[in-house]
Amino acid sequence: MTLTFDAHPRSNLIVALDFDSLSTAVKFAKQIAPLVGMFKIGGQLFTAAGPAAVKEIAALDVGVFLDLKFHDIPNTVAGAVLSAASLPGVELLNVHALGGSAMLHAGVQAISAGVAMGANRARLLAVTILTSMDDKALLEVGIAGPVTDRATKLAVMSQKAGVDGVVASVQEALAIREACGRDFLIVTPGVRPKDESSSAQRDDQSRTATPAEAIRAGADFIVVGRPILAARDPRAATQTIVEEIAAAKQFS
Ligand code: C5P
Repeated sequence: MTLTFDAHPRSNLIVALDFDSLSTAVKFAKQIAPLVGMFKIGGQLFTAAGPAAVKEIAALDVGVFLDLKFHDIPNTVAGAVLSAASLPGVELLNVHALGGSAMLHAGVQAISAGVAMGANRARLLAVTILTSMDDKALLEVGIAGPVTDRATKLAVMSQKAGVDGVVASVQEALAIREACGRDFLIVTPGVRPKDESSSAQRDDQSRTATPAEAIRAGADFIVVGRPILAARDPRAATQTIVEEIAAAKQFS
């Protein structure tokens, strides 16, 4: 499988399939598959349906971001990363940067040992700081902010450990791009279309931005869940986001 990343603006869009049943997820995914770059399978769907979820979604011919955010001792993470990277269609998978550089390095080694190097291997991402957390939430777990500094330092550490990119909020994307260079992948969740970026529509996300802001800040991929999943017309909502990406790419 090849990283689905071409000039078409849809390739920048990853839709989070946060469902608790595989049949619902597949039915939903089929409606919008031609309009998206990748589908994200996270803890909810994977816990409910297991590897079958990856197989069925990959069969729609759209790449999969397996968002299981591993965070454990290096040996355990290495095993989990290898298992995840071996599933069909997985183009992106992730671990928590807060697991430290030994754990990140173990994940990197597991991918390169298990799958031949080159364009076809899954890319490993490190989650910097969850987009649901702000400075106050960070302090509560004993980490001094500001979030942007923390996330950028974690990105630099992750790059040194050999990971291919990070998951971070749009607010940190510019600083990370500057610190880590053009080839480092940046994936930004917490994205809310313009008319939904008011606090009422942010759900549990603290650090949100619009699709255009994400692209202009240097994101390679944006992750969108609820604004599409809960839309009255998911196809139209997806199309609107792709058009916003296209417009932003023209000017970036
Ligand atoms: O519904 P919403 O657009 O907020 O969904 C965002 C998705 O991105 C969720 O599946 C969430 O687990 C994921 N995510 C995130 N923040 C991160 C990493 C992943 O919101 N740092």
